[in-house]
Amino acid sequence: MQSPKHFLQFKDLSRNELDHLFERTRWIKQQFKAYKPYHPLFDRTLVMIFEKQSTRTRLSFEAGMHQLGGSAIFLSTRDSQLGRGEPVEDAAQVISRMCDIVMIRTFEQDIIERFAAHSRVPVVNGLTNEYHPCQILADIYTYIEHRGPIQGKTVAWIGDSNNVCNTWLQAAEVLDFNVHVSTPPGYEVEPERAGLYGTDHYEEFSDPMEAARGAHLVTTDVWTSMGFEAENEERKRDFEDWQVDVEMMKHAARDALFMHCLPAHREEEVEAAVIDGPQSVVWDEAENRLHTQKALMEYLLLGKVNA
Ligand code: CP
Ligand code: NVA
Repeated sequence: MQSPKHFLQFKDLSRNELDHLFERTRWIKQQFKAYKPYHPLFDRTLVMIFEKQSTRTRLSFEAGMHQLGGSAIFLSTRDSQLGRGEPVEDAAQVISRMCDIVMIRTFEQDIIERFAAHSRVPVVNGLTNEYHPCQILADIYTYIEHRGPIQGKTVAWIGDSNNVCNTWLQAAEVLDFNVHVSTPPGYEVEPERAGLYGTDHYEEFSDPMEAARGAHLVTTDVWTSMGFEAENEERKRDFEDWQVDVEMMKHAARDALFMHCLPAHREEEVEAAVIDGPQSVVWDEAENRLHTQKALMEYLLLGKVNA
């Protein structure tokens, strides 16, 4: 049996495939906005496995599959045998015989890699400790909608070198843009963990204001990601000077956008005046999770579909 196409990290898709997905997203979004039904995945089933909490990811995958004509099943560690130690390889064998596509939100990347290696159907990463590829798919689509191609542009990442940061760095390599990263000491990028080919597409800055200078997009995320809650108090102290505030946005390009994957903590990683201000596109960004993931599921199940 030929192994299915998975989306476990951003670089699993080529630039050509991403261009196709962004084109399809535009069309799929137009159909949705015009209340025109589009059911290419009639009778297909998506299984969503959550080992961490979620609002946007669950909603966008579940609604997205429904809108494409299929159905979605929600499984969590709490109410399935996955929470009682069933080997991930066994779960993959069983689950993938009963459905057409699987989305997983879990802890270590290794868990989703092992699942995918034993799955008969495409597996999509809905967030791991290392990566959040579906988020950056939506973020880049949002950038393109507002400003056009991202090639050659500069994205400033302010804060933790977490799963979202790692994914921005991979995306910069695939789509050829630059990332200016500023993290507090001790939280720097780990290129191997980020799955990078090199260091050509990002630059690290000790001063977050310098990282923001001239950037076309400024973005950040919570200081403490899910699974790292024990470090919360220490992180609050360490990240104090890494808040994206109005002053920092003034260092960016005049028409710079602000993005945040959400959920956000106002007055921690971002000042309310920024996230609720005119440069912020966070609601478009959240909505685009729906449209980009519909294009992704269409591609993984049907290949390149033309309108
Ligand atoms: N951005 C994001 O993935 O949100 P959820 O945790 O609500 O799914
Ligand atoms: N970095 C955050 C993203 C949440 C969507 C986390 O992993 O908790």
